[in-house]
Amino acid sequence: MSAELKQSGDKPNLPPDTKMIEVFIMGKRYKVPATLTIQKAIEWAGFQFLRGCGCRGGICGACPTIYRTKDDYKLKIGLACQTVVEDGMYLVQLPFVPAQKSEYHIEDERPTIAAIEKHYPETFRCVQCNTCTKACPMDIEVMQYIAEIIKGDYKKAAELSSSCIMCGMCAARCPAELQQFNVAMFVRRMYGRHVLPKAEHLQKRVKEINENKYIPFLDELGEISHDELVERYKSREWQPEPYEDPNWQPKETKYL
Ligand code: SF4
Ligand code: SF4
Ligand code: FES
Repeated sequence: MSAELKQSGDKPNLPPDTKMIEVFIMGKRYKVPATLTIQKAIEWAGFQFLRGCGCRGGICGACPTIYRTKDDYKLKIGLACQTVVEDGMYLVQLPFVPAQKSEYHIEDERPTIAAIEKHYPETFRCVQCNTCTKACPMDIEVMQYIAEIIKGDYKKAAELSSSCIMCGMCAARCPAELQQFNVAMFVRRMYGRHVLPKAEHLQKRVKEINENKYIPFLDELGEISHDELVERYKSREWQPEPYEDPNWQPKETKYL
C-alpha cells in the first residue's frame, strides 16, 4: 500500500445521507463512509494498493487485516475485501506472512509421517491452543487439520484444509511457529498425487492437448475479427440451470 494521496478510480458514489465514521489506518485518523469494506475505506482515505489486494472477492488471500474495535481488547483478523469498517476501528494491512516453502518433488514424496518430519518438522510442536482456528478468516478448523496431519490421516487433513486461501494468518498467530498453510498444501499435493485415483477425463484431455488437438481452434480464434469474437462469446451455449444433468453436452461437440 503506498501513501500517495491519489484518488482511486474505485471511489464509490455514495448517497448524501451516508454516515461517516472514524477509523485509524496505521495509527492515523480518517473519516470514511460506514458502508465500505476495509479495502474500500483505505482507498477512500487516499491510499492506493500496490500489494495486499488481488481478487477483491475473498478468494486470493492477499488482503489480511489486523484490527481492534472500540471497547474490545481482542486483536481481530479479517479479509480487507470482506470486512466492513466499524467506528473506532484501528487497523493495519499485513502484506505478507513470511513462511519458507520446503523444496520437494512430489513424485519422490510419499504421504507418510516421515515426509512431514523431513519437510515441516515444526508441525509436531503444535500445543493445541486453537489460536490458528480463531485467526482463520475462512473458518477452517486449522488446529484440527494439523492434528490429522500429526496422526497421519491425510485424507481428513486435505478435506479440512481444502478452502485455505493461503492468507497466512494462522501462521502469524501460532505460538509454536508452524506454517500451517504450507504443510497443508504439501499434504494435499501428496494426497492428490499418490492416493486419489487418477481422473480419467483429465488424462484424456491432457493427451489431447499434447497431441495439439486444440491448436487449429486457437488459430481460428486468432484470425477472426474482434466483433465476431464478441458475437461468438455472447452467443455461446450455456448449460441449462440448475446443472443437474451430468450427461449434458453442448450441441457443438467438436471443441470437447
Ligand atoms: S496456533 Fe499453532 S500451536 Fe496453536 S493449535 Fe494452531 S498450530 Fe497448534
Ligand atoms: S488456514 Fe491459515 S492460511 Fe489458510 S485461510 Fe485459514 S488462516 Fe489463512
Ligand atoms: S483481495 Fe483477494 S481475498 Fe481480499
